[in-house]
Amino acid sequence: MSANRLSVGASPASPNLAVQEHVLRRRSIQEVPPRFLQPVENGGVRLLILENISQEAVAAFRTLGFHVDHYTTAMSEDELVEKIPSYHAIGIRSKTKITRRVIRAAPKLLAIGCFCIGTNQVDLKAAAAAGIPVFNSPFSNSRSVAELVMSELIALSRQLVERSIELRNGIWNKKSKGCWEIRGKTLGIVGYGHIGSQLSVLAESFGMRVLFHDVINIMPLGSARQVPTLSALLSEADFVTLHVPELPETTNLISAQQLREMKAGSYLINNARGKVVDIPALVDALKSGHLAGAAIDVFPQEPGSNGPGFNDQLNPWATELRNLNNVILTPHIGGSTEEAQRMIGDEVAQALSSYLGYGSTLGAVNFPEVDLRAITAEQGTQIRICHVHKNQPGVLRQINEALSPYNVEKQYSDSKGDIAYLMADIADVSRADVNKLQELIDSTDANILTRFLV
Ligand SMILES: NC(=O)c1ccc[n+]([C@@H]2O[C@H](COP(=O)([O-])OP(=O)(O)OC[C@H]3O[C@@H](n4cnc5c(N)ncnc54)[C@H](O)[C@@H]3O)[C@@H](O)[C@H]2O)c1
Repeated sequence: MSANRLSVGASPASPNLAVQEHVLRRRSIQEVPPRFLQPVENGGVRLLILENISQEAVAAFRTLGFHVDHYTTAMSEDELVEKIPSYHAIGIRSKTKITRRVIRAAPKLLAIGCFCIGTNQVDLKAAAAAGIPVFNSPFSNSRSVAELVMSELIALSRQLVERSIELRNGIWNKKSKGCWEIRGKTLGIVGYGHIGSQLSVLAESFGMRVLFHDVINIMPLGSARQVPTLSALLSEADFVTLHVPELPETTNLISAQQLREMKAGSYLINNARGKVVDIPALVDALKSGHLAGAAIDVFPQEPGSNGPGFNDQLNPWATELRNLNNVILTPHIGGSTEEAQRMIGDEVAQALSSYLGYGSTLGAVNFPEVDLRAITAEQGTQIRICHVHKNQPGVLRQINEALSPYNVEKQYSDSKGDIAYLMADIADVSRADVNKLQELIDSTDANILTRFLV
């Protein structure tokens, strides 16, 4: 893998200052405007964008002066191997696999943007070893999930699914028994992170009382109250909703024992991850009438594509679950809204642009997260060094020796696993100095990839 890939940044002549500001927006709030960095070497930045990524993101890259080739479908490994060698960055969704072989075939590649939540489709280790950070957008759909839960709270407590199924079958069944307002009821949120805390605010505005349980102490929003144990939450809540990550500790977090601890006539909602609930135990609790209903959006095994795939071959209890009318079943759509897609586009485009133009790895999933205060317009003589290297002893001594003739204005480095990343801004450096420094740093044995931005 070449250690001397093109150093890139947006063209300083880019006409659209508003877009440049957009990229700078979250980088630095300072009185003196930041300087938009550009490559030491000349040459266009080429982006390969695949799948149905938001058009706004594609347009933003083009406005920044990047050359963008956009194909709306995924590419196979062979197609990618053939196509990728000339590109500096690639944007994908979940269908394109970036394997070790693809990375080996990409000598110019600087960054990968996953315009989605997950990053399983990328060989993250191979990318990091090649000095390529991978960015995604894990929290853009939090609001969409929180809103879905609100709709499920009402749909469950008003038995909307049952009434709808009956009427579709020609049965008129107007009843109020067992149907409730959610006002005044207690919502128990398990996991008070991005989604859980948003939901807390929405539920309170509906007049619900909110309890939450989390493994860390979190400042409650509004009048919500943290309870010390899961059991305390289960025994008090009329509705229990799960918003924890999938971890060994959260596998079957809700099983037969926990379902027994829930109040008689209460409801369970799982929009988190499929393995968090023991579904056969849930089916028993629903059949016995101990739980009044449930809403399930995520499953231990989910079909790979749309179509008739949610069956007993996939999950042995699928038919039994499908036959329960008091269960809302949805195909992992918690975060699937137009708004979330747009925000994902915005966030990943921003992260890619920040890395290409400024060297910031904030938000990278496979890399140490490093950022430096922006170089301001007044600091015209400064250049930025972005040095990805192996995490081994002695590197900083070698780099500091190389930088010692110059004034290092600021410097920061961090490591993650085998990879370390150093950013440094140095002043009063001539073009000849830059070439000398590049040669010096490229020749260090720990060097993976070094870029210079001016
Ligand atoms: N259904 C969907 O389409 C959809 C969309 C987005 C996210 N999700 C899932 O929702 C879940 C929550 O997402 P988020 O963005 O709010 O995550 P987050 O990381 O912001 O919050 C998770 C919270 O759970 C807490 N937690 C971890 N282990 C716990 C435990 N054993 N008990 C109690 N609390 C625990 C953490 O401390 C954290 O506060 C994740 O599993 C995510 O994958 C699903």
